[in-house]
Amino acid sequence: MKELMKFIDASPTAFHCVENVKKALEEKGYKEFKESEDWKVKNGSKFYVKRNGSSIIAFNLPKKGFKGFHIYSAHSDSPSFRVKENPEMVFENNYVRLNVEKYGGMILSTWFDRPLSVAGRVVVREGDKLVEKLVNADRDLCVIPNVAIHMNRDLNSGYKYSAQNDLLPLFGGEKAKGTFDDFIAKEAGVKKENILGKDLFLYTRQKGTYAGAHKEFIVSPRLDDQACVFAGLAGFTDSESREYASVLAVFDNEEVGSGTKQGADSTFLEDSLFRVCEALSFTRSAYLRTISDSFNISADNAHGVHPAMAGKADPTSRPYLNKGVVLKYSGSQKYATDAVSAAYFKKLAESVKAPVQVYYNNSDVAGGSTLGNISTAHVSVKTADIGLAQFAMHSAVETMGSKDVTDLVKIVKAYYEE
Ligand code: CO
Repeated sequence: MKELMKFIDASPTAFHCVENVKKALEEKGYKEFKESEDWKVKNGSKFYVKRNGSSIIAFNLPKKGFKGFHIYSAHSDSPSFRVKENPEMVFENNYVRLNVEKYGGMILSTWFDRPLSVAGRVVVREGDKLVEKLVNADRDLCVIPNVAIHMNRDLNSGYKYSAQNDLLPLFGGEKAKGTFDDFIAKEAGVKKENILGKDLFLYTRQKGTYAGAHKEFIVSPRLDDQACVFAGLAGFTDSESREYASVLAVFDNEEVGSGTKQGADSTFLEDSLFRVCEALSFTRSAYLRTISDSFNISADNAHGVHPAMAGKADPTSRPYLNKGVVLKYSGSQKYATDAVSAAYFKKLAESVKAPVQVYYNNSDVAGGSTLGNISTAHVSVKTADIGLAQFAMHSAVETMGSKDVTDLVKIVKAYYEE
C-alpha cells in the first residue's frame, strides 16, 4: 500500500486530494465537464465534474445504457487548523505566532511538538479575472510547542486546551514579522497584493509508514478518510462498468457536518445524476426508475476495538484492524445501513472472498456521523455505510490495518463491475 501512502502524502488538504483524484482520472482518459457548461454525455462516456475544487464526482457509463447508478462516496477533508486572515500575532516583540481556528473535531494534543506546514487554495487577481491556485509550502514551517511539564504539572491528568491560545503555531522569531503573506505569495508565484482570498490549513508532513512486527499497520496522517478515497479511486479506475453506471463521489466538509454547497448535504450528487440522465434524454419517470435501481456505498473509516478502552466498543460487534471491511449500523440511522443494503454488501464482499465485520456504537456511547444518511436525504437510494477499522480517529496521525485497504479495493471493483 505504498500507493496509498503516496496519495495521502501528496494530499495535505481537500483541494489537493481532489486534484490528485482528478489527475488519476485524467491518466485513464476521463474528461472534465464543468457545472457551468452543457454536458455532452453519451453512453460509454467517462468524465468528472468538480465543485469548489474540493469535491469531485466521476462517471464511467456503460456502452449500452444502464439500469441504475453504483455510487461509492468518501470524503476529502480531515480535521485540521485553518489559518485566519491577518494571522500574525507578535509575542513580546520576539516571536510570531499564527492565528488559527479549528476545522473539525481533532484530538488537540496530537498537534503539539511536530513540524507543521501550510497548504490550501488562494484566489488571485490576474488582470480582470480571479484565478484559483493551490499552494503547498511543503516544508517544515511551524510548530505548536507544548508548555513544559514543570510549568503545567497537571497536563497528564487531563487539561482543557484553549484553541485561541494554546494551539497557535509558532511561525518564527522577530524577523518573521510581516512575512507570512509574502511567504504564501512566493509559494503561489504571485504578488502579495493580488491574493484576494485564502483557504489555508496546517498539516503534518509526516509520511505514512508501515508499523508492526509484520508490517500489519499503516501509520499515517489523514487516513480518515483519504484511505477510503484512495480505495474507491483504485477500484473505480481499475473497473469496467457493465449494467450499472459507475459513480465515484468525493465530498468536502464531512468533518464539519457536510452542510456546504460542495458537501454531501448539498445538491451536488443529485444535480450531477440528473444532468447525466437529462443529457441522455431520460424522461422523468425513466430517471426515477434509474434512481430506484441505484445503490450507494458510503465509505468512511470506522473505530477498531482499542485494547486500552475495550469497554467503549459494542459488546458483541468487535471490529479489529486487518480483519475485514466494516459494515456500520446505527439505530438512530446515523449510518444508513439496513438489512437490505447489508445483505447486498456482504454478498458482494463474499464474491471476492473479502471478510466483513460489523460495527455498532456501544449503546452508552454517542458515535459520530458520516456521509451516507446525509446524501440519502438528497438522493434516496439503498445505502450501506462502511469503513476501514482504525485507531486514533482524528489524531494528527492515525493507525489502520495494512490488509483492509486491499480488501476494500477488491470489493469496490466487483461493485462497479456488477
Ligand atoms: Co471520516
